[in-house]
Amino acid sequence: MDMFVIQGGKRLSGRVAVGGAKNSALPLMAAALAAEGETVLRGVPRLVDVDTLSALLESLGARVTRGGGGELSISVFNERPYIADYELVRRMRAGFCVLGPLLAKRGKACVSLPGGCNIGDRPIDLHLKGLRALGADIRIERGYVVARASRLRGTHLYLGGPFGSTVTGTCNVMVAAALAEGITTIEAGACEPEVVDLGNLLNAMGARITGLGTPTLRIDGVERLFGVEHSVIPDRIEAATLMMAAAITRGNVTLTNVCPDHMTSVLDTLNEMGVRIVLGDRSLEVSIEGPLRPVECVALPYPAIPTDVQAQLTALLATVPGMSIVTDKVFPDRFLHAPELVRMGARIRREGNSAIVSGVDRLSGACVMASDLRASAALVLSGLAAHGPTVVRRIYHLDRGYEHLELKLRQLGADISRVRDEPANVPEALQVGQHAPVAPPHFEPTVKPNRNRLR
Ligand code: EPZ
Repeated sequence: MDMFVIQGGKRLSGRVAVGGAKNSALPLMAAALAAEGETVLRGVPRLVDVDTLSALLESLGARVTRGGGGELSISVFNERPYIADYELVRRMRAGFCVLGPLLAKRGKACVSLPGGCNIGDRPIDLHLKGLRALGADIRIERGYVVARASRLRGTHLYLGGPFGSTVTGTCNVMVAAALAEGITTIEAGACEPEVVDLGNLLNAMGARITGLGTPTLRIDGVERLFGVEHSVIPDRIEAATLMMAAAITRGNVTLTNVCPDHMTSVLDTLNEMGVRIVLGDRSLEVSIEGPLRPVECVALPYPAIPTDVQAQLTALLATVPGMSIVTDKVFPDRFLHAPELVRMGARIRREGNSAIVSGVDRLSGACVMASDLRASAALVLSGLAAHGPTVVRRIYHLDRGYEHLELKLRQLGADISRVRDEPANVPEALQVGQHAPVAPPHFEPTVKPNRNRLR
């Protein structure tokens, strides 16, 4: 297992390119199951999650080949398999996105329930509600969703949940409705750019979907879909993470291959904090000219602040003097990064689905543990800003969603290295304890009680 060793305190500067969006590539890959012929996706990032989904698609009768650059080709050659195995789906929830395509194209599907997740409760009831509304017969059996439908039928359905719209739920139902008989109207569908990207792929494949990017989607079902070539949109979450890496080190960085239109709320919040942002054609420059200001921000479904940047924003605000409030209304318990940031000297207090952040002048390096994908990104950012070395463990979480983040950060001047997670690789300064080679933290002599006075 690997870990990162980061020597903090370096201002990031330079240019770096953003990769294709993980949260778009995954539903796009799953949708290829609903098409005849070859689907070629460009700009697919090299991520553990993409490899896991490739293995799942291969177990479902598809041939998945990686071409040069970020090209991925998917061709279905056997339509008999219909079981999406627990061993693959439990590793990556987005594997559940094969349910809609399988049901619509093969009339039956048996997909493992995704199971638990560190960021909070993640039910799939809305996925099932939408597919049942299209006429599917669905039951849960031995940890699997068992679904059957000779031909799905178009209908009018509401897909909103207690925390608003569902991203992959909208993806599953949209693909299924694309091959259903008749017209489907989805109300309270998700508007995320990744959902729009999927809708654009389906329309290129021959589907008839309108209203993409709005909560109301209208889908005129068609008989068949055909494989096409499609470029994955840039990763707005990776872009936001790199912007915050620049800001937390008070650096000056230019990102290329970005789509600023997908990031309005993030740009607005950073602007409010005093981060200077210059937009270019598919690029943006981040710099800091004066002291940053604390803010209040709330993660909600798109176009609001994405929950997937909430942890990184919390880490940045922990270095901004004053009080900030970060609330997550999509995953109210998504704060496993907070106690780890506190280990680095941050002052963060949880109150319900909010973190009350009192900014500090300086964080200190420490050994910290990643708990999920975005929490690990937040810890890396804090390590870049911290005084002294930081060790971030369990970075396998990070590899699920960032393609070689350490290489991109090094390109911007960061001192970060990926090493085996072994005691010998822990910097001396962090080896505190009985057997540590360095003196334990220095304790100022406390005032000795005046014995006479106590008596
Ligand atoms: C997608 O997950 C993303 N994953 C997540 O990114 C992201 O955090 C999330 O959308 C929200 O933006 C992918 O795209 C692969 P949801 P998804 O269904 O679709 C509740 C990352 O870091 N809900 O939109 O699983 C749910 O509990 C990952 O890259 C129901 O109640 O999220 C949550 O509170 C993490 N019933 C809210 O809706 C349902 O059937 C939004 O979840 C489905 C969801």
